[in-house]
Amino acid sequence: MLKTINLGLQFGGRKLFDDVNISFTKGNCYGIIGANGAGKSTFLKILSGEIQSTAGSVILDKNTRMSVLKQNQNAYDNYSAIKTVLLGHAELIRIMEEREAIYAKPDFNEADGLRAAELEGDFAEMNGWEAESDAATLLHGLGVKEQYHETLMADLDPKIKVKVLLAQSLFGNPDILLLDEPTNNLDAMSARWLENFLMNFDNTVLVVSHDRHFLNRVCTHICDVDFGKINIYQGNYEFWYETSQLAQRQAKEQNKKSEQKIKELEEFIARFSANLSKSKQATSRKKALDKIVLNDIKPSNRKYPFIEFKPAREVGKEILEVKNLTKKGFFENISFTIGKEDKICFLSDNSLSITMLLNCLAGIEKADSGEFKWGVTVTQDYLISDNKEYFQKDINLIDWVRQWSKDDQTETFIRGWLGRMLFSQEESLKKANVLSGGEKVRCMLTKVMLSYANVILLDDPTNHLDLEAIQALNQGMIRFKGNLLFTSHDTELINTVANRIIVIKDTIVYDKLISYEDYLENLESKENKK
Ligand SMILES: Nc1ncnc2c1ncn2[C@@H]1O[C@H](COP(=O)(O)OP(=O)(O)O)[C@@H](O)[C@H]1O
Ligand SMILES: [Mg+2]
Repeated sequence: MLKTINLGLQFGGRKLFDDVNISFTKGNCYGIIGANGAGKSTFLKILSGEIQSTAGSVILDKNTRMSVLKQNQNAYDNYSAIKTVLLGHAELIRIMEEREAIYAKPDFNEADGLRAAELEGDFAEMNGWEAESDAATLLHGLGVKEQYHETLMADLDPKIKVKVLLAQSLFGNPDILLLDEPTNNLDAMSARWLENFLMNFDNTVLVVSHDRHFLNRVCTHICDVDFGKINIYQGNYEFWYETSQLAQRQAKEQNKKSEQKIKELEEFIARFSANLSKSKQATSRKKALDKIVLNDIKPSNRKYPFIEFKPAREVGKEILEVKNLTKKGFFENISFTIGKEDKICFLSDNSLSITMLLNCLAGIEKADSGEFKWGVTVTQDYLISDNKEYFQKDINLIDWVRQWSKDDQTETFIRGWLGRMLFSQEESLKKANVLSGGEKVRCMLTKVMLSYANVILLDDPTNHLDLEAIQALNQGMIRFKGNLLFTSHDTELINTVANRIIVIKDTIVYDKLISYEDYLENLESKENKK
């Protein structure tokens, strides 16, 4: 077991958190969430002993092996990929080395013999004989081809290195596994493999992630690092979000009787847990929910922007027809027609080709040949990913938003929009050219909302956004009654929004009305047959 007692940390005068008392127990997977800079990575570093807390202590049972996903990509440059994975289990490596040294001795005496026997015993107990093949299986699962297993880390592509380090942390069935943003830079297939691995992992996992799909599939608990505290909740991210929203609504309806509130929550949990048991998720997740004490459900003090795209008018029958569109170096001979209800997610190994396609359809770039035609009822707007040009002017946010408001130009109206997007009174006077990446995207989303378009193009919209904004955007895209053409690296977003998947590899190689989940499943079974 791993436990913190009155744990606290201050950097200089700044308190990251204090009075953290949490026990992390076997079989559970704890998702650690919180804004950038809240202290998630620091918390994991304290637990692993990499840095010292300024108050309280961490208690780790003796004989408990903790494994940490290494962040330093170059630490193993002189080792092969497979050896790097094996090095994840330091004790096993130590035994192997001592054993080899004894066998290499020219004068092997009785004491050596006894020691060797002891080491053989330990070695077998740690599954030493299977170590190499276990390591190879992990690498294979993460899509690291055999041809790279003996390659030196220094010579591997950074994307493959990340996978080797991940395999290293998973190797040898650690009792406690600490992972800081493991799905960053992982492709969809490897992320899916990791989800399945962790769902079947019986020991303790603590994982920092911004990936809602991942948090939903693997977590039994959510640890929220916020306002100098770390609060723990049972259930996965979606459960935490829904219950804390429900509790917040209930808190507003003060006149409601408490029995009524409890009943509402109970019904919610029953529904949630029934849905969960229908899904392919491990039953331990469901069990974790069954044990929930209603008093543990608290309204969250997290704030979500309000994102709603309202089309000014419904789209007619003809929406968009694309014929043999070609932009050299990006895509060739692209043809497709949009149907009335389509919410299309475009996928490609080369994200630039999709950006170019969306840019062409939005009229920002010109294709080399081919044509496309928007229907007469269509008004479209575009959440462009490279938004620098929109933020050159030295104007404050009120004037920035005012540019996109066709009808009402009053300050009250504009401030209302900024407020919805969580810009405070003071922040509304900030200059547009000093905004952070996430703030810029929130402004651009306000522009899209003010366009009242009935077809919206979005190029990787969750980029730079925090979890709350991503969640709000996701809800807005689900509720939108018009058409969407988008691309994203956020699995949950694609899963819950898209009803059609188009894959581009030079040209369109796949185009189907299908959910992302089913698409990935088909792909997975095809890969397995290979
Ligand atoms: N060694 C350090 N000294 C002072 N401040 C630090 C140090 N390490 C991190 N910080 C600060 O502590 C805060 C939390 O960092 P971190 O744990 O990396 O956040 P998160 O992982 O939640 O994004 C950040 O504001 C960071 O700048
Ligand atoms: Mg971090």
